[in-house]
Amino acid sequence: MKISLTGIKPTGNIHIGNYFGAIKPALTLTEQYFCVYFVADLHALNSNFSPKQLQEQIYEVAAAWIVFGLDTEKAIFFRQSDIPEIPELTTILSAVTPKGLMNRAHAYKAMLDKNAEAGNDPDFGVNMGLYTYPILMAADILLYNSDVVPVGQDQNQHVEIARDIAENLNRIYGKTLKIPEGINSETTKVIPGIDGRKMSKSYNNTLPIFAPEKDLRKQVMRIVTDSTPPEDPKDPDTCNLFQIYQHFGAPERVEEVRQLYLQGGLAYGALKQELFENMIETFKPARERFNYLMENKHEIDQILTSGAEKARELGRPVLARVRKAVGIDR
Ligand code: TRP
Repeated sequence: MKISLTGIKPTGNIHIGNYFGAIKPALTLTEQYFCVYFVADLHALNSNFSPKQLQEQIYEVAAAWIVFGLDTEKAIFFRQSDIPEIPELTTILSAVTPKGLMNRAHAYKAMLDKNAEAGNDPDFGVNMGLYTYPILMAADILLYNSDVVPVGQDQNQHVEIARDIAENLNRIYGKTLKIPEGINSETTKVIPGIDGRKMSKSYNNTLPIFAPEKDLRKQVMRIVTDSTPPEDPKDPDTCNLFQIYQHFGAPERVEEVRQLYLQGGLAYGALKQELFENMIETFKPARERFNYLMENKHEIDQILTSGAEKARELGRPVLARVRKAVGIDR
């Protein structure tokens, strides 16, 4: 079976955009591939300087993937920082990575642009973690002989860079690393946020899955709608309340609601209440297990630790081959 590798940045407040846009599609890949999933906590270090918060977010994201069905018997799930082979491979890869390749990376260039706009020094706020982020990511991908790397469009360049780095090493030392391929899952329709923009924590427009009920309800009630009175016809396809609702209502009921929009007679407030109840119902088992795991973090640790052992087994021979190729084996 081919190997598919997915790195997950640790974030808290998992929301329905994360679920429908990333978690759910990624978990279906286990039917086709041997899947390697990991929490990319080392990648968070260049921007998250709050140890308490980082720790909590690592657990939250790990718990979320577990409760949504990541099968730790069939797939490998671990924490990046538990794999000492990663920083080692990163150092070796750095030696064959041209500085110019890093200069072209989008995230770094975005910082330069921001600084230019603000009249700052070009390197203001740029740490080496940000600058060499693509090398660390290349190590993630290359260590386990990954065949495919399913990513969102925004990560395509990083996969391209990983390929470039692997090709450089292979050119210098002979064929040593497998050249991975990036795949973009067919663009699952993005879920709009409660204000109609893309759902994102940075816009504060999310519907959080594991938040206390009253917080979730508050967010649902904040979903922005227009001011059409209930009795007037409305267009379901331009209404973000309907766009969100259709992921939760039963198919016949969604159709019924669509007709209510078109004919008139629908009150937004009532639909919001229904959406809220459906969400609670849909996520009930996941919420319960999530809360349990967050109260029993040692169970998350156990899962991640045993995953790390398997990941290291997979990575060790590849690193050994690289060490030999470059002349630092014994
Ligand atoms: N950079 C990815 C993101 O921001 C996370 C990530 C780290 C990753 N290492 C990876 C993704 C390896 C795929 C493969 O989402």
